[in-house]
Amino acid sequence: MAAAPHALPPGATIGILGGGQLGRMLALAAAPLGLHVHIYAPDAESPAAETAAKLTRGGYDDEAMLRAFAAEVDVVTYEFENVPAACAALLAGLKPVRPGVKALEVAQDRVTEKSAMRAIGLGTAPFAKADDAEEARTAFAALGGKPAIVKTRRLGYDGKGQARVSDADEAAAAVARFGAPCILEGLVSFEREISVVAARGIDGRIEAFEPAENTHEGGILHRSVAPARLKPQIAAEAWRIAGVILEALEYVGVIGVELFLDKDGALLVNEIAPRVHNSGHWTMDACAVSQFEQHIRAVAGWPLKPAVRFADCEMENLIGDDVTRWREIAAEPNACLHLYGKSEARPGRKMGHVNRLFPFSGRR
Ligand SMILES: Nc1ncnc2c1ncn2[C@@H]1O[C@H](COP(=O)(O)OP(=O)(O)O)[C@@H](O)[C@H]1O
Ligand SMILES: [Mg+2]
Repeated sequence: MAAAPHALPPGATIGILGGGQLGRMLALAAAPLGLHVHIYAPDAESPAAETAAKLTRGGYDDEAMLRAFAAEVDVVTYEFENVPAACAALLAGLKPVRPGVKALEVAQDRVTEKSAMRAIGLGTAPFAKADDAEEARTAFAALGGKPAIVKTRRLGYDGKGQARVSDADEAAAAVARFGAPCILEGLVSFEREISVVAARGIDGRIEAFEPAENTHEGGILHRSVAPARLKPQIAAEAWRIAGVILEALEYVGVIGVELFLDKDGALLVNEIAPRVHNSGHWTMDACAVSQFEQHIRAVAGWPLKPAVRFADCEMENLIGDDVTRWREIAAEPNACLHLYGKSEARPGRKMGHVNRLFPFSGRR
């Protein structure tokens, strides 16, 4: 099937909000399709700007700068989910914003997100909102008085803004300490964590990569292994869940869906990321299309490619000082190294990742 008539032609410009490594890898994927990338970000150092045709340095609340940026691009996408609502609304009035504002609204607030997942029939951890210390006590009791996690409703990432609590006093103290509206989540004793990275095209076609199995260290993704070791019916259920979410949000682009596989074999949605996702980096070297190219194709109105894998892969994040191992990794025959060009290797900072390829196991 040929690209739809509304597909942006080579030479068109994709505007990306956010200047981090995800923007960098999106820009690298746009280049072979002849599409230009224009990054909009407030920060002085931008891994994405290095690989993009243009950078506008501006705040997400700078209306004049945002208008000027919109005038120079054909479509707007984003590489982080905390784009302020007013910024997204302003841009949506000027150019197509893909994925849409709806996806941002749902994903930005953990209470809205979990409620939206329940509303479309998907399972989540038990939860209750805890907007102040008093409400945290009620929430703790409502969840059965069992060990739980307090998380800020907004702006958390890489385990930041989270605290494990074992009684109502601890829950109240955690909410008071964060000084922001929170959610209380029941602790899921999961068998393993998996994620599905999937895309929906402008024509409604959905392509999902195989689920990856994820391990975290200190709240940060450490390793993703693809394919996840799953019974075929569980992998199929993970795909079904991703499809239900994409449809419900009338989504265009790549989404990351984080799931817990509980002891009974049920899949619970942990969170969704309305963007390319760290647990999908393995697709860069192990698949017929990477999550980055797939996202560019979707937002540019191009047809999606089949999300077919042709190697097994283990992705390891290079966090902080891990990056000093670059010489050894560069010498590994089956390792594909991706560095983000960040100058300072601060603890907890994602500096790069490595995809180690293994012969195709054939599971799919
Ligand atoms: N309700 C829960 N039960 C058990 N573990 C959890 C729960 N929520 C989060 N975690 C653990 O903490 C990690 C980070 O939490 P998550 O909600 O994904 O926040 P972040 O936005 O920081 O990724 C998860 O990947 C999981 O390992
Ligand atoms: Mg997460």
